[in-house]
Amino acid sequence: MVLTVRHLQTYRDQGRPIVALTATEYSLTRILDQAGVDLLLVGDSLAMVALGYRTTIPVTVEEMLHHTRAVVRAVQRAVVIADLPFGSYGTPQQAFATAVQFLQAGAQGVKVEGGAAATVEIVAFLVERGIPVLAHLGLTPQFVHQLGGFRQQADSPATAQALRVAALHLQEVGAFGLVLEHIPDEVAQRVTQKLTIPTLGIGAGPHCSGQILVTHDLLGLSEKLPPFVQPVLDLKSLIHDAVTQFSETVRKPT
Ligand code: KIV
Repeated sequence: MVLTVRHLQTYRDQGRPIVALTATEYSLTRILDQAGVDLLLVGDSLAMVALGYRTTIPVTVEEMLHHTRAVVRAVQRAVVIADLPFGSYGTPQQAFATAVQFLQAGAQGVKVEGGAAATVEIVAFLVERGIPVLAHLGLTPQFVHQLGGFRQQADSPATAQALRVAALHLQEVGAFGLVLEHIPDEVAQRVTQKLTIPTLGIGAGPHCSGQILVTHDLLGLSEKLPPFVQPVLDLKSLIHDAVTQFSETVRKPT
């Protein structure tokens, strides 16, 4: 079965947690898809984990499209969503032109960061033109220079209230889901209770409709880990040991 964003809504309505991970390339994505991940996000975090940039800001539309095509070729079941990179959705028209490229590359929808009025307008514009949109609030890495680093957000009554209002606006204009990143558990819980669309938490506690992580973080491949991630594997060491073993075999005198 090929999942769609409508299945994600059904999962949320049935109280079935949604499992989401990031995807960057073909071979690993095949495994993630076959393991039953519901949503695969071609996240612009690939700027950092796959391309070695310090933030997500430098990644281009072309680079994101290149990764999206590889991911799409690997997936048989999951919903594939692609991040619109920084600077590629400054106006509704620009956002539409960029989003079209991702849907033509095979993604089922796009993700945009932020909840300001201009972003809500962009989400409305895309949804009205047939593009499923996943919204993203809390720690929005494309705003890293304004936020002053990758730090927890919505940690005061006023900022938590602003986040709740933005979440409702994004739902009203038709976002099919909302990523909540690095915010206090109780704020994520309250937003999840207020909304009727699914929330996907990342560093936002256990009360969201589902969870999303950067796959490289989960598998222990990332250079640096956010404070809220507990890797399930130390793939870095496993690969290091495997390569050391290979090197020893190759270098052994015959
Ligand atoms: O780019 C990304 O990987 C993301 C997730 C952290 C949600 O936006």
